[in-house]
Amino acid sequence: MTVNPVPRRPSSAAAPGKVILFGEHAVVYGRPAIAVPVAQVQATATVAAASAAGLEIRAIDLKRTFPLDQAPANDPLAAAIRVTLEHWQSPAPPAVLTISSTIPVASGMGSGTAVSIAIIRALSSYLGAVPDDELVSNLAYEVERLYHGTPSGIDNTVVTWNRPVYFSRDRSVQTLQIKTPFDLLIADTGVPSPTKMTVAEVRARWQNQPSHYEELFERIGQVTKAARVAIESGQVDQLGPLMTRNQLLLEQLGVSSPELESLAQAGLAAGADGAKLSGGGRGGNLIVLARPEARAAVRQALLQAGAPTVISTVVM
Ligand code: PMV
Repeated sequence: MTVNPVPRRPSSAAAPGKVILFGEHAVVYGRPAIAVPVAQVQATATVAAASAAGLEIRAIDLKRTFPLDQAPANDPLAAAIRVTLEHWQSPAPPAVLTISSTIPVASGMGSGTAVSIAIIRALSSYLGAVPDDELVSNLAYEVERLYHGTPSGIDNTVVTWNRPVYFSRDRSVQTLQIKTPFDLLIADTGVPSPTKMTVAEVRARWQNQPSHYEELFERIGQVTKAARVAIESGQVDQLGPLMTRNQLLLEQLGVSSPELESLAQAGLAAGADGAKLSGGGRGGNLIVLARPEARAAVRQALLQAGAPTVISTVVM
């Protein structure tokens, strides 16, 4: 497919953060998982014409500006740009691509994916092309594969569709109806944790003891299926215990950490209904289910227990 030549108007796109509610890690092994977008944090990309030749990347948060053709081979921003240009069979336009994000990095909130998706959408639109969601998600998955080895595809799916999803590797995207909206607190441990590492560790353990780990994945899958029924039928009171059960299984997988567990204890002691790590684990974020009347006390307890930030979101 080719793209429109000039004239080119400035274009801009944003993509949300995300959390995985149930099923991380097991989803890499074919079990289902549930993820929801988090609109309170976003990545934004804008592309505007420039007189200099070639494409310049301005990464506001990294305080770096560099030409695409001098980007290091493993630069993820350049990778998102290259897959987009390759797809549309376009040379790099003379333009500046500016990227910024409020999504915490390496914390299970899909920051890299959101940055890729904002770039793919803004650059495609700058080139005069209109990619559908499936294409955006596929291009973002290509970028993920370069950096994460064996991603399940859940991150690019939930961030592209920007809707709660019930995701299984071998199925097409299923969006999830939230019958009764519920409140989540997202507490950062302050410990960055690249997903690639925990995914590789789980894989090594699974290779050593396949039947034990398959059983854990299967039990996580059962929890996710039960959670889907609870979410779609508005039985929010069942979600807290299911989150806590999922957390115990993640601990058995070896991807939890003392920081995550002490935040979870603090939240539960202050009246939360359930808590679990979200994403790759080891560090990153803990998600905590709290009823509106308990929310302020739980939030305070999480901050006191050492969370540098706590984001409130409503899943709907
Ligand atoms: O750390 P995150 O949010 O990118 O979570 C990844 C979820 C895993 O199941 C651990 C990996 C995957 O590719 O699904």
